[in-house]
Amino acid sequence: MDLWGRRLSAPLLVSCMTGGVGEAGPVNRALATAAQRHGIAVGLGSGRVLLEDHRTLGTFAVRDAAPDVMLLANLGAVQLHGYTAADCARLVEACEADALVLHLNAVQEAVQSTMGDHDRQDTRFGGLLERIADVCAELTTPVVVKEVGFGMAPEDVTALAAAGVAGVDVAGAGGTNWARVEGSRDEAAGALAAAFGDWGWPTATCVAHARAALDAAGSRAVLVGSGGLRDGVDACKVLCLGADVAGMGRGLLRAGAAGPQAATAAVGVLVEQLRVATWAVGAAGAGDLTSRRLTGATTAAAPP
Ligand SMILES: Cc1cc2nc3c(=O)[nH]c(=O)nc-3n(C[C@H](O)[C@H](O)[C@H](O)COP(=O)(O)O)c2cc1C
Repeated sequence: MDLWGRRLSAPLLVSCMTGGVGEAGPVNRALATAAQRHGIAVGLGSGRVLLEDHRTLGTFAVRDAAPDVMLLANLGAVQLHGYTAADCARLVEACEADALVLHLNAVQEAVQSTMGDHDRQDTRFGGLLERIADVCAELTTPVVVKEVGFGMAPEDVTALAAAGVAGVDVAGAGGTNWARVEGSRDEAAGALAAAFGDWGWPTATCVAHARAALDAAGSRAVLVGSGGLRDGVDACKVLCLGADVAGMGRGLLRAGAAGPQAATAAVGVLVEQLRVATWAVGAAGAGDLTSRRLTGATTAAAPP
């Protein structure tokens, strides 16, 4: 498939995870190398630190290892209270990325805000839709908006489509729970986070709802289905539910940390699992994965 001008061999994305700190560079490079080898898209972690300190660029600079991949830069949407569209363009350019991903992480920020060192401004999620629309209008590269593991309501998907996003990544509940992660760092945060262990829209639900919302809006925004995907069979399921691309984060982190060889092997397994699942449900290819593939007992006609 074609994703904003880059060819993907399989409709898969390594979700945005890391950047800025010392160990992030090798992880990003390993995941980018794997993405290049298998022709899938890859995201970088939040570039806020890069906007603040250009010396961290080395941890985001992976284009030489992945010259052909769809590479996505990343920033917290809440940072748009401080950063302008020009800053976003600067981030995309510094990372030599093809697109910008803005993440929404309201619950994570709220849990973090109970910790003493936190900048209260990070919980100001009001007014962000207008700022996202401004960035979409001013950037020459596609803008995607994602959650970080609690999913998105269909109303938010509709609003983001109207704001002009090129893609939405639901990042639903079922995988990484950022309330719990932040809660584990501090007693007060932990007490708050305790109630949010099963917070959010499950991935399958929000992918199906997001698909319906985009279709109802007549939007051509790309829908990424992610959040808790464990393997290529899960990827196949979100594609059947209406996602255009399936994303995986934590499931690839350990392999990314183990280096380019391990990351390339892990992504290879993921691609192969998706290929076999696609065949086994009787679909001609990833573009032929629809909801009826999840329910109908289909028999594959030819070996994979
Ligand atoms: C270690 C780690 C760091 C992450 N950092 C970011 C980030 O900087 N920006 C972002 O948009 N999402 C970030 N995420 C969220 C992922 O992109 C993804 O949306 C989320 O983990 C759900 O997918 P998963 O269940 O496959 O991990 C991070 C996830 C993990 C596990």
